[in-house]
Amino acid sequence: MIERLNHVAIVVPDLEAAIRLYKDVLGATVTEPIDLPAHGVTVAFIDLGNTKIELLYPLGEKSPVMSYLNKNSSGGVHHLCFEVDDIKVTCDHLVEKGMRILGNGEPELGAHGKPVIFLHPKDFCGTLIEIEQT
Ligand code: CO
Repeated sequence: MIERLNHVAIVVPDLEAAIRLYKDVLGATVTEPIDLPAHGVTVAFIDLGNTKIELLYPLGEKSPVMSYLNKNSSGGVHHLCFEVDDIKVTCDHLVEKGMRILGNGEPELGAHGKPVIFLHPKDFCGTLIEIEQT
């Protein structure tokens, strides 16, 4: 069912510092930060070829990543994103298996303009899982 690991999202307390860290220490190519007001985050991507790292920084007071940063002041891994072919089929399968889809239970357009769902971390070894239709 799941295919490639699309990205690992990391919440950071200082986006510019995080970008410098990945560029200067690890020699990675990092995109310019992009504000995504609809998602309450500013993002920068590191393309590693086999997958991406998504640096997430809160945007606005209702940012969904603010509570994470409040609990983890130095930041940390926020979610993993797996690719699937057909998100509707995947949703039906996951619900049948007793998994909880966050929000209204329906796919929504994610940060990359593609349909995504998020699964409850308590159903997945304490890890927030994003599923993206590619
Ligand atoms: Co994501």
